[in-house]
Amino acid sequence: MISRITLKSEALSKCRVHLRPRNPETPRPVIAEAHPSEDITHTTVPTTHHLSIVHAWKQKFLLRGTFNLFGCMILIFIAEVGHSLYSCGVACFRSPLSLHIYALAMTSPRSRALQVGFGLNVCILIYVMVLFQPFPLFNVWNPPNMSPEPQINACYEPKSGTWQYIVADPTTNDAAIIDPVLDFDAATSSISTSTADKLLDLIARQNYTITHILETHVHADHLTASAYLQTQLLKKGATQRPKICIGKRIKDVQSRFGARYHVDPSELSDAFDYTFSDDETFSIGSLKAQVLHLPGHTPDHIGYAIGPNVFTGDSIFNPDVGSARCDFPGGSANALFGSMSTLLALPAHYRLYTGHDYPPADRPHPNKADGAGDDDGDGGGGGREVPFTTVKEQKERNKHVRDGTVREDFVKWRSERDAGLAEPKVIHQALQFNIRGGRVPGPDPEGYRFLRVPLQVPQAVL
Ligand SMILES: [Fe+2]
Repeated sequence: MISRITLKSEALSKCRVHLRPRNPETPRPVIAEAHPSEDITHTTVPTTHHLSIVHAWKQKFLLRGTFNLFGCMILIFIAEVGHSLYSCGVACFRSPLSLHIYALAMTSPRSRALQVGFGLNVCILIYVMVLFQPFPLFNVWNPPNMSPEPQINACYEPKSGTWQYIVADPTTNDAAIIDPVLDFDAATSSISTSTADKLLDLIARQNYTITHILETHVHADHLTASAYLQTQLLKKGATQRPKICIGKRIKDVQSRFGARYHVDPSELSDAFDYTFSDDETFSIGSLKAQVLHLPGHTPDHIGYAIGPNVFTGDSIFNPDVGSARCDFPGGSANALFGSMSTLLALPAHYRLYTGHDYPPADRPHPNKADGAGDDDGDGGGGGREVPFTTVKEQKERNKHVRDGTVREDFVKWRSERDAGLAEPKVIHQALQFNIRGGRVPGPDPEGYRFLRVPLQVPQAVL
């Protein structure tokens, strides 16, 4: 069976958007909700690790680039040497016979002024050291925590239970989109752009410059909006082309599913602008990001670490949801256990931002009461969606892999569980669309565009 896809625009989704913490004193997360007819609204997610006002001020004004404490110390040293040379020169100019005169000058009122100046500089140095707490002292030239705190906007797409993220550098407004969703109605094979358009509204309102559109993997439960967003951003006057990026193993996935669905190789070769190697680092403005290979759910799966924030995709879910299925081609419960263990080995305060959330009914939510969701691509669940939990919380409470979980036990349970799961409702459409980087197939001679959907046929019908 081949299904014809149509494209239309309609408002179907709702979004929830969070800004990266600015107020460390707020005790509990607050999540604002925007209904389909409303614009995206912002709220603040408080941090669980220390972020003092001084620290934020330091990031913004003092420690950007090379102008950090070490730079201050060098400047003070240069000022001292310059001041001394100047004084020496003045002394010699006045009495060029001998530097002995300069020695005498050191007892003069000018010298005392020099000493006062030196004392002031020492005071400034001590003040800087106390105020900005630059420890470890000898790792201040380019320490890893000197990257600014990113602004993290999280937007939930309820139909597929997907968290989309826009991560921005507050000092330059450069930003990256992670795992955006294109709306798709399987019943009518219709594509629409309501969810992605809300991301565009947010980007415009925040005046972000999108430099990257990042995929964690080839999704099987929803269509990616990467290509649509790239096109729209360029139409809206983006000065640089946002790069659609994914892990390097996309080539294997493309060849596997390209052959299965008879996708023209020419539609795959340039589907992504850039493919990341494992552990590769890159910049989003002045933010430093690092790629983490996190296989298991799919073999190509990667995550993105930006400071103490890790965008995990489907390599881990919130503690009361647990883990993602591993039964897609190339998936592996054993590999997923390794990836989850990698994430749980990160520092306890690190935040793990998940690619989906299927909140169980017992998670507080004022408007829902239905049963727990699952990773079959139909969203679901009854509680309140949460974009992240910390490594500490995951280690203590993840229902599938936490401290003390035995690998063999998880692999056995996950394999048995996956054997009983229905496949995602739009898996065939999603795979064909997503290996193309989010581009629709080329038109046939009559202008129609088709995706292939295999039939499930009983023997008696053949
Ligand atoms: Fe997925």
